[in-house]
Amino acid sequence: HLGEQTNRAYLFKIVIIGDSAVGKSNLLSRYARNEFNAHSKATIGVEFQTQSMEIEGKEVRAQIWDTAGQERFRAVTSAYYRGAVGALVVYEISRRTTFESVGRWLDELKTHSDTTVARMLVGNKCDLESMRAVSVEEGKALSETQGLFFMERSALDSTNVKTAFEMVIRDIY
Ligand code: GTP
Ligand code: MG
Repeated sequence: HLGEQTNRAYLFKIVIIGDSAVGKSNLLSRYARNEFNAHSKATIGVEFQTQSMEIEGKEVRAQIWDTAGQERFRAVTSAYYRGAVGALVVYEISRRTTFESVGRWLDELKTHSDTTVARMLVGNKCDLESMRAVSVEEGKALSETQGLFFMERSALDSTNVKTAFEMVIRDIY
């Protein structure tokens, strides 16, 4: 097990990365508190939430970290990634440039991570179908080449939000 055993509970660190405004903070707030903010501000620095779930009768806690997509608001990169065993790499299906940045985010993750990391590629804002700029097939293809799980989601209407976090946690476990 990669998790660290504390008080009979496993604690896993998961990081969320991706360009600014793809919806990282809203995916986290939807998962942790079932909240969505249509006017959320860009994250400055780092925030995290701890979420519990039960796997095979054991309590598992995920500490999910969220940071700024904008370089100038980011905290110390190496500290952000340190100890992470899971990662959600997020782009926005309605903004192609955010998909084109995925490779850069994967490189950064690889450079700074110290263990094997369970990774999921997330195409967020799948509620914006009429503005789609990245096809499902492209998302799938990229995830297969890079060896990631893949899922499209929406923090707005909750599609797959819970499943995506829990798939990563189960894979780590
Ligand atoms: P940074 O903190 O700057 O890195 O951005 P972020 O990736 O955390 O984005 P954030 O969660 O703040 O969301 C940016 C904007 O997108 C906000 O206006 C959200 O309301 C909106 N948004 C987030 N998720 C969705 C979604 O699934 N669908 C739609 N339609 N809008 C979303
Ligand atoms: Mg944010």
